[in-house]
Amino acid sequence: MPGVELVEAYVIQGGRPLNGFVRVHGAKNSVLPILAATILSGKESLIYNCPHLKDVDSSFRILRHLGCVVRRQDEAVYIDSGPIAHHDVPDSLMREMRSSVVFLGAILGRQGKAVMSFPGGCELGPRPIDLHLWALRKLGADIRESGGNLYCETNGLKGAEISLSLPSVGATENIMLAASAAKGVTRIQNAACEPEIEDLQNFINAMGGSIHGAGTPTVVVEGAREFRRAEHSIIPDRIVAATYMACAAIAGGDVTLTGVNPAHLRTVTAALSDAGCEIDVTEDSLRIARSDALKSMRQIRTMPYPGFPTDAQSPIMAVAARAEGTTLFVENIFESRYRHVGELTRMGADIKVEGRIAVVSGVKKLYGAHVKATDLRGGAALVVAGIGAEGETVVTELDHIDRGYESMHVALSALGANMTRKTV
Ligand code: UD1
Repeated sequence: MPGVELVEAYVIQGGRPLNGFVRVHGAKNSVLPILAATILSGKESLIYNCPHLKDVDSSFRILRHLGCVVRRQDEAVYIDSGPIAHHDVPDSLMREMRSSVVFLGAILGRQGKAVMSFPGGCELGPRPIDLHLWALRKLGADIRESGGNLYCETNGLKGAEISLSLPSVGATENIMLAASAAKGVTRIQNAACEPEIEDLQNFINAMGGSIHGAGTPTVVVEGAREFRRAEHSIIPDRIVAATYMACAAIAGGDVTLTGVNPAHLRTVTAALSDAGCEIDVTEDSLRIARSDALKSMRQIRTMPYPGFPTDAQSPIMAVAARAEGTTLFVENIFESRYRHVGELTRMGADIKVEGRIAVVSGVKKLYGAHVKATDLRGGAALVVAGIGAEGETVVTELDHIDRGYESMHVALSALGANMTRKTV
């Protein structure tokens, strides 16, 4: 029809229980820094369990722009960073994926210089990189900020003592990457402890690097080692797992997630057990079942790992919206991470937000509506709500969701959901 723009949407007929098995794909937040790390070696890397995500494609474009050979077959990716010839990330690629700032440490480490635009503010509020820049300067980088661009150069990176004022995931990763190319030892204090940091350590060590302590607040990097060809398999995505757990919780039924690490999901498991779900785990699977009514959860405060992940806050909020009683959320990591609330309210949720606090008073029913994904995890929350709602939910702005979830409609349909992806 003239004048009417067609957009892609998830169309969900809610209210069906979910049953069966779903395999969880590799972690977005692991694969992105690991793809950046392949630059360091100048050798070949083989990455397994690589998810099919928009952010992964953006990383491939950055690697190819730099001169790397990148080939993908299903979940396996071959990268040869030997032929690297550039040291800049074009502005268009920086805009596609703000977390591309993690390429800074790796490019600087390999090329001795790096140019990229400033990532700036984003959908979660201001997302500063002051800690990244401060730490890279401590390692011997000369960084100039001019006209929205970052110009970094070094005469040679040197190991340093770096004590972070807060345990930033991206800053810890950038330091590990640059320090792996620096002469001497770097000790990072108050490092982020997320499982993805440990995965990066394991990959860098597989390339011949020497990092210890990832997963604890002190990470020690011995730099300038001889790198070699490496193979590595990406850990499972704990946030995708948490999202499917939320779907099972809101829909009811009996779902088993395979290819997961339940140890990475303890706080989410505790919250959904509170909500009345029955959860059993093995070493690499997690079964979640619910037959009784959903109950409110104890206060959910997002914290750095091993605390409750900020990325799981919105999918779990959709569950709280349908539970009996009131659940209080406190968002401690990002300033504006409640943008999904307005959309959940359109579906009948009763949520009051005041600064970092959201008071979710559960309602008996959510109703299908036309809603827009406001950001990656906020979009996932709308899918969770749609699965648990009465009637038809149409979720648009799928670009956000595609950054972090591989074909959600296929995975959820296989569990019995009535969910399609189509142009509307
Ligand atoms: C990573 C994850 C993201 C997750 C977040 C927190 C990736 C690609 N993304 O993002 O999904 O939500 O961790 O678990 O892995 N900060 C500063 N200065 C800095 C850096 C960060 O003030 O230089 C602040 C941020 O504004 C935020 C907090 O530190 O309030 C945590 O951010 P950080 O851990 O750096 O998150 P990201 O690495 O961006």
